[in-house]
Amino acid sequence: MKGKGNKRLIIVSNRLPVKAEIQDEVIHFEKSAGGLATGLNSLPTSYEKHWIGWPGIYTDNNETEKELDLSLGSYNFHPVFLTEDDMENYYEGYSNSTLWPLFHYFYIYTVHSDKYWQAYKKVNALFLEKVLEVATNKDILWIQDYHLMLLPMMVREHLPSIRIGFFLHIPFPSYELFRTLENREEILDGLLGSDLIGFHTFNYMRHFISALARITGIESDDNMFHYGNRTLSVDTFPMGINYDSFYKASKQPEVKRFTSSFRERYSDRKIILSVDRLDYSKGIPGRLEAFRLLLENHPEWIGKVSLLMILVPSRDSVDRYNDLKTTIDELTGNINGSFSQPGWIPIHYFYKGFSFNELTAFYHESDVALVTPLRDGMNLVAKEYVAAKAKKPGVLILSEMAGAAIELTDALLVNPNNTGEIAAALNTALLMPEKEQKARLTGMQKKLRKYDVVRWAGEFIDKLEKIHLRQRDLKRKYLSQYQADEIARAFMKAGRKLIILDYDGTLVPFVNDPAKALPGTPLKELLENLSGTEGVELAIVSGRDSDFLESALGFLDISIFAEHGAMRRVKGKWQSLYRKDLSWQPEIIRIMKEITDNTPGSHIEKKKTSLVWHYRSTDRWLADLRAAQLINILIYPCTRRQLHLMRGDKIVEVKPSEYTKGSAIRNFFNSGDYDFILAAGDDTTDEDMFDALPEGAVTIKVGKPSEKSRYTVLNSGELIRLLSSFQK
Ligand code: UDP
Ligand code: G6P
Repeated sequence: MKGKGNKRLIIVSNRLPVKAEIQDEVIHFEKSAGGLATGLNSLPTSYEKHWIGWPGIYTDNNETEKELDLSLGSYNFHPVFLTEDDMENYYEGYSNSTLWPLFHYFYIYTVHSDKYWQAYKKVNALFLEKVLEVATNKDILWIQDYHLMLLPMMVREHLPSIRIGFFLHIPFPSYELFRTLENREEILDGLLGSDLIGFHTFNYMRHFISALARITGIESDDNMFHYGNRTLSVDTFPMGINYDSFYKASKQPEVKRFTSSFRERYSDRKIILSVDRLDYSKGIPGRLEAFRLLLENHPEWIGKVSLLMILVPSRDSVDRYNDLKTTIDELTGNINGSFSQPGWIPIHYFYKGFSFNELTAFYHESDVALVTPLRDGMNLVAKEYVAAKAKKPGVLILSEMAGAAIELTDALLVNPNNTGEIAAALNTALLMPEKEQKARLTGMQKKLRKYDVVRWAGEFIDKLEKIHLRQRDLKRKYLSQYQADEIARAFMKAGRKLIILDYDGTLVPFVNDPAKALPGTPLKELLENLSGTEGVELAIVSGRDSDFLESALGFLDISIFAEHGAMRRVKGKWQSLYRKDLSWQPEIIRIMKEITDNTPGSHIEKKKTSLVWHYRSTDRWLADLRAAQLINILIYPCTRRQLHLMRGDKIVEVKPSEYTKGSAIRNFFNSGDYDFILAAGDDTTDEDMFDALPEGAVTIKVGKPSEKSRYTVLNSGELIRLLSSFQK
């Protein structure tokens, strides 16, 4: 089953794109016409495509399973068999009674149950088993949606170099909601197994980045994350539809048959169309209330306008969905009971799914589409309506809370909670001149044609390939044991050797109170031994002030540079390396003080030559806002006074521009002729130092990889292990 030659794309989703059924002991398959299936089928044929998912049927019969495996296998579909108990607790439970309501902002509908969580873990592990049967490290795995959020990391642990993409088809909620989830850390950790995580809109991505930073402390670098020794990316890919098939549908003979019977039935009246899965996120009761309001406020439409409401049965074994059905049935009966007239009923209500041909005929012929979800990841119905209109007029009324509203700005956008606004939009739509209808539709059609489902899937896979290549390059920078041994050997062989080390984040990890970041005994001994080794010259180059460095490292007989090279300690005495002029400080202090007063947890550090605003203990969102504000205000005075303005690790620093860590280093090693030079640092200021060193120097970035260093180590512990190996 595992691939040998062709590049393989393996899609994993809760459901397979076909549903199996057994009738008279014979297996039948019904093909799903969903957007995803169509889009993925249109991907370049250079990929051998496979699909892993639930076949839509329960069976406890091994023979049937084998038969299903075989017949589905011939289409490269690989079934994961679930029991009724799995479906109850994983699908109806954790997926649709915990994640679905919470991610759609239905906080009070969210059920927290350990039984559900255990089933979710179990079923994600079942999917893992199937992935391991099918996939190899060389394949592309594309995991879909909220049912399988643990799967990326599960797979990563077994197939470390496989490309993994994850796409969330529903909204990612704001941090304030996401944080209420009991298993929030596990869910985030699961997703971090991916190389690329995709969302429909920028807002969902922003919420994810914020939740990740606040819950796990992992910060993004633009839209990249460094997690362990891996780099992953997040981005937005608004899902499109198979535009051409909808645009051209009305020309198909089968569709034409449906459109003419539609016209016969409703010839003299306007039709408002509403199409959804029956789901509380779709805002159906509000929509019905708005329609009632239209008839009350504008009785002139009575007898002239009908609402054609299609509700596709969905998740009806979940209680919430059942209750909703009762509410909708009652409301519909109530409106029809109140307003119907002989020969006219206000609401034509269908509780069933329609075929592509019938549905596109409804789209093509209806005067208005009313799409008002309270929350929706994307909403494809809105896009399908616009495309299927082809050249015919029509008006789309769309909820601001649907992901599609970001692209479909020519729709009449409404707040779905405001029934008065929806009723008014209905009246506007019914009265809208044909010219305006067409102009709005054409604008939207242009966008949908350009960013169709093929492009959506293609861009996702392209980006996944790119991030994978970048990751491979960055990964090469991580110091391997072999390279570490080589460096140690080069050190031993060399005569004169120079070791230059940054302090914070390089020799000691960051802590909330910088005064407490002191070296422990093992580090002190290591530095003492190194500096005492024959032929070794050791230098510490730090942004810290001389008083701190004196107290932390003063016991060593080495060169120490303080304040990014403004001061140097030689033979126990500190010298200033630049002409001291502090006349710029009062103005900068005044600005920093104003920001500090408005930013709990921040403080100003006054060094001998520079000023630093620290915000390590401040709320992340506020800190980002204030740091950006501070930098904005400081740009002008810093330019005027020729000062260097830097943003470092949770700091903003202002210093004279005459010196950098690079200039300090240049002066230093110009005086010696070394056979071996090693420099290590964790921050961008250390990159000045790497730049200043001669080719051949061993430069090591601690933490995130950098273009400027030859190697990267994950943390100060790894660097210390390397330095310790120089003593053996
Ligand atoms: N759909 C269908 N038959 C129907 C009604 C809807 O095939 O009778 C399809 C519709 O074409 C669309 C999908 O169901 O592609 C609904 O997707 P959407 O994004 O609007 O909502 P979701 O159901 O994913 O929440
Ligand atoms: C939404 C979800 C999909 C799901 C679909 C139908 O669009 O994002 O993942 O497949 O609804 O729901 P169902 O529970 O019937 O699979």
